Amino acid sequence: MEHLTPALSGRSFVVTGGALGIGGGIADAAAAAGAKVLVVDRDAGAGRARVERIAAAGGTAAFLQADLATHDGCRAAVGEAVAAFGAVDVLCNNVGIQPAESYATAEETTEEAWDLIMAVNVKSYFLTAKYAIPHMRRRGGGAIINIASVQGLQSAPLVPAYAASKGAVLSLTRQLAIDYARENIRVLAVCPGSIDTPLLRTAAAMQDGDVEQTVRDWGRAHPLGRTGQPEDIASVVVFLAGAGASFMTGEYVCVDGGYNALGAWAEPREPAPAGA
Ligand SMILES: NC(=O)c1ccc[n+]([C@@H]2O[C@H](COP(=O)([O-])OP(=O)(O)OC[C@H]3O[C@@H](n4cnc5c(N)ncnc54)[C@H](O)[C@@H]3O)[C@@H](O)[C@H]2O)c1
Repeated sequence: MEHLTPALSGRSFVVTGGALGIGGGIADAAAAAGAKVLVVDRDAGAGRARVERIAAAGGTAAFLQADLATHDGCRAAVGEAVAAFGAVDVLCNNVGIQPAESYATAEETTEEAWDLIMAVNVKSYFLTAKYAIPHMRRRGGGAIINIASVQGLQSAPLVPAYAASKGAVLSLTRQLAIDYARENIRVLAVCPGSIDTPLLRTAAAMQDGDVEQTVRDWGRAHPLGRTGQPEDIASVVVFLAGAGASFMTGEYVCVDGGYNALGAWAEPREPAPAGA
């Protein structure tokens, strides 16, 4: 049974975009599993509140304010974890954006919007891995868990930059996994369906009608009949980062209430739920 227990005790765990939403849930769950958690986020108020909440629950956490759209921000994320906890054992690349103006055709998508989405959703995953891997090697291994999306696997209308970014995350996950497997660095991805976060509610607010009703409607489109919560993703991330997943690498796990199991014959819905 011990093998199945997600034991992150004493592990140094970095979560990008860890102040709010899914990343906030991951920070809480990793700390509850015994990890020393570095929350990296551009939102200082929410980041500090997250760390205080973890400390109040008896966990260990630190916060770094950084813009993960920048090279310096990504490098600092790893440097701060090493400074605070002496290592990086687990890197959870969670940060991601889907701004309102990116719900558009390719013709309507500006180059600036494309570049920003790629910088945050893909390039930060590459840069943080690039800087974290030498520290994992020094410790004899580690785990990188990338948050992708079911939109990296199947398509929905009018999200070209976001969908391309999530496909790239899945490809990068496979590539890092095979390149570093012999060094005991496992690399995995999680593909969430619609999860109730600020990102999802921003998308819901763009629809006609009541936000709560839209979130409920999107939840009903998932076979399990509800939107997910950050904790639904966080518990899987903790499992993947721990010893129970020691023979897993180069793989993705859908945590989507069954959404990705729906076939093309499923009733067409317009627009598709955010994240799904
Ligand atoms: N919510 C969903 O339905 C859903 C579905 C599939 C995939 N995802 C993915 O899950 C991840 C988390 O999504 P979420 O819904 O929790 O998002 P969110 O917008 O609710 O939270 C994102 C967090 O990242 C931070 N952040 C954004 N840009 C940043 C930057 N440049 N530098 C530093 N921090 C930054 C924000 O301050 C916030 O704390 C993303 O990769 C997203 O694409 C979400």
